[in-house]
Amino acid sequence: MDVRDEANWWLFSVDPEDRRERITATDTGAREVNPATADGRHLLEYRSYIGLDRLLSCQAPSSRVPDERVFIVTHQLFELAFKQMIFDLSVVAATLSRLLEKEDEEFLYLCSSADEEFWLPSLTASSRIIYAGRTVLPVCLGYLAPGENGSENFSSREFRSFRPNLQPASGFQSAQFRLIQRALGKENFLGIRIFPAEEYWKNYESGEEPGPARVVDPVILRADVAIAAPSPGSPFHIAATLDDLAHRVLARLSPPGGKTAPGVAAISPDRVEEAFEGFYRLLSAQRNLQEQAGEIPADAQEKDRRAKTFFRGDLEAAVERENRRRATLGPAREGARYLRALAPRKCLVLVLDRLSAADTALHGPQEESFLSQHLHITARRIKDLSDLAHQEGKPEPPRGTGGGGVPYLAHVKRYLLPLFPALVAWKDDE
Ligand code: HEM
Repeated sequence: MDVRDEANWWLFSVDPEDRRERITATDTGAREVNPATADGRHLLEYRSYIGLDRLLSCQAPSSRVPDERVFIVTHQLFELAFKQMIFDLSVVAATLSRLLEKEDEEFLYLCSSADEEFWLPSLTASSRIIYAGRTVLPVCLGYLAPGENGSENFSSREFRSFRPNLQPASGFQSAQFRLIQRALGKENFLGIRIFPAEEYWKNYESGEEPGPARVVDPVILRADVAIAAPSPGSPFHIAATLDDLAHRVLARLSPPGGKTAPGVAAISPDRVEEAFEGFYRLLSAQRNLQEQAGEIPADAQEKDRRAKTFFRGDLEAAVERENRRRATLGPAREGARYLRALAPRKCLVLVLDRLSAADTALHGPQEESFLSQHLHITARRIKDLSDLAHQEGKPEPPRGTGGGGVPYLAHVKRYLLPLFPALVAWKDDE
């Protein structure tokens, strides 16, 4: 990403005093948009304002297949929507951070008020986050979804002819998506080594996979690790702190006596055990498929043993960290109860409800969630590819990522993501 091009984007403010001020060239790194010429004219054009030349010249298909174009454009539409979501999460985080700087009296007033000047940026931002999760992403995904009544926007047969050209790249490498997950309370989930990264190791590092990887591992995300796991100096950092900021606001609202309240319910050992069993079933199903295709690797047993050890160790550590955190969130849950009673339907309640609903829209188990719809598409497309390969007498067993990660996506959605919801203390009080 070109930092200079990004500079204006991140020079936003939620401060009622200065947020409507124009960005001038004297602001660090900023670009002055539409300055006056010496004779007082303005030369801005639609095209230069929205960077149209660059935007419309960054599609480079690998093949002559017409359907490859919509494959690229759909992913680009998503990344733009993700960019806007990250920005909107940052606006809410910046507002909560500002709120925490206020003295007690003003803090309480703002938490329980409909103060437009203060809350407007967060109200529109949280509304957009929900709109993206519920509407924009599913609609864009429709370009690649299986059609109805024989009407298809995208053909698996055509997909098959260009998908191999793209190895090892995959949507798995969307760092912006990982940052959204981090903002929505999934930091502990992101530390679990579960995903096969064989193709990435082989292609990027000319090396052997040392075992399954975290989705934010540099071998998967490359330079974009700095987006998915931003350091404090990065403009992306504020979004990464959103879940924590929301809990700090709630804890401060805890009434006297609530400070010693018992924590939020811990993740139960049964759910952890279910996740292990699901993972073991997944590994053996993958091996069965490979066996049927006569492609089982010689070191399969050793690899599976290592994958199980990593997964068990990391999941136990992630759950322990999450439970330790939940144990400290009693005051935040009491604050949530107090806020809902004190100021129902006021701005802060609306914003927190929307964040929690956006998490469900993205990660929830319901059929319409982004991950359910994406899984539906992936399962169908990858199955079509396998069927076509079979028809041609070329068995195509799952092979790690770069197309073969579907069972992992299903496992994560069913067993892992529900353990790490956004705003857990807010949700716990519902
Ligand atoms: C024909 C359409 C698509 C297919 C067949 C497909 C396939 C896959 C597969 C197989 C994976 C698992 C990783 C792997 O094996 O490489 C994956 C992951 C992912 N894909 Fe897609 N995908 C499609 C469209 C999209 C679109 C349009 C997006 C939008 C950005 C997207 C975003 C993602 C993300 C974020 C992940 C990681 C999800 C997670 O870890 O929970 N995919 N995709």
